[in-house]
Amino acid sequence: MPPSIPQATSWSPGSWQHLTAAQQPQYPDSQALNAAIAQVAGQPPLVFAKEIEQLKQSLGAVANGEAFLLQGGDCAESFRDFSANHIRDTLKVILQMAIVLTYAGRAPVVKLGRIAGQFAKPRSANTETRGEQTLDSFRGDIVNASEFEASARRPDPGRMLQAYHQSTATLNLLRAMVQGGMADLHQVNQWNLDFVQGNEQCARYQQLAGQIQDTLDFMEVCGIDSASHPALARTELYTSHEALLLNYEQALTRRDSLSGNWYNCSAHMLWIGERTRQLDGAHVEYMRGIGNPIGVKVGPAIGADELLRLIDALNPENIPGKLTLITRMGADTLAEKLPPLARAVAGEGHKVIWSSDPMHGNTVTAGNGYKTRSFDKIFTEIQQFFGVLRAENLHPGGVHLEMTGAHVTECLGGSYAVSEADLEQCYRSQCDPRLNAQQVLELAFNIAELLRA
Ligand code: PEP
Ligand code: CO
Repeated sequence: MPPSIPQATSWSPGSWQHLTAAQQPQYPDSQALNAAIAQVAGQPPLVFAKEIEQLKQSLGAVANGEAFLLQGGDCAESFRDFSANHIRDTLKVILQMAIVLTYAGRAPVVKLGRIAGQFAKPRSANTETRGEQTLDSFRGDIVNASEFEASARRPDPGRMLQAYHQSTATLNLLRAMVQGGMADLHQVNQWNLDFVQGNEQCARYQQLAGQIQDTLDFMEVCGIDSASHPALARTELYTSHEALLLNYEQALTRRDSLSGNWYNCSAHMLWIGERTRQLDGAHVEYMRGIGNPIGVKVGPAIGADELLRLIDALNPENIPGKLTLITRMGADTLAEKLPPLARAVAGEGHKVIWSSDPMHGNTVTAGNGYKTRSFDKIFTEIQQFFGVLRAENLHPGGVHLEMTGAHVTECLGGSYAVSEADLEQCYRSQCDPRLNAQQVLELAFNIAELLRA
């Protein structure tokens, strides 16, 4: 087991409660809240310490420039869209992207879903007004329901239990699928060939998918296939979500009996959002004490000083793989804002992963009122991210995407050219717009070209 993590004596799973916690719901019934917290605290963990440490080790390779991180999934998982097909389709695109990125980058890809616990959402306003009526904002299905009705918007602590159970069922299916044959490389590449066939950019993408197929065929001739090497049909998939709703996160924080370290056992990796990363706030306090690998969103407003202090608070021992800085600056801003931050962090010798969230800095409202993002802006931000970090001799270590395997129409553009008028056709997200299956695969082939360059 890993050595004990020396923690400030004052930290405990509940020490955050003495500080200001941004973005928490105001539950109307504190007795019901306490009862729900006690029930969650009585549930078994979803993941265990050894897996968390394994992920941290794999992320260590990313921090050292030897691997790439692919993190993605829904903006917010929902109770309504919960189904085996939804989970399978999300996993399918993650696997499809990973094979392309692994081959192009000649390096392992660490697969991390925004899944099996991604339910709580930070909001820019506490309330929402429509016409004469003002109600609490929707804060994710773990807190309240999205319908614009007073009863739906009232925070209900019982939803924490439902989110927990949905997470366990999701993780259960994911574990079965990644170990039970769905990750078979032949099958995954066949899906990619099917995708490429129908694509306008077919010729461009065909080459890479064809090379992967040739490699697999060659290996098969040499006797290396999934029948003789079952490892070829299995993979590792880890889970992550924003650690926003601190009562829930605390209730699933457990002490590993072997090492004595505390871990958040609701997911392998957790991150702090852009709106809750106050240095003196409750979220940083909570996150500094857990043994999990953690992330922090880094928006355009942060200064180098503030970022260095956050890094000191969250990864004081400078463990590679422990901390991922997830930049979300916007395509038009990143090239200006990231270089001084990257220089400052590298200058202090901090071993972090730099990962690009090209989604949250590129959200716009379309003429017809839909919240959307354009494929071109998303890819431009990733291009800029690679350019800036490579110019600083640093590793562009990963991407963090809001995406789905379903054929939704939430983001604009891509080869199938989703237009503003198309958005209403299949806009399912309760929160931010996601790349659909076509768009996200196309993005993977584009990132592959960056990895090869
Ligand atoms: C998110 O990842 O869904 C999110 C809210 O991001 P951010 O904290 O970067 O705004
Ligand atoms: Co989002």
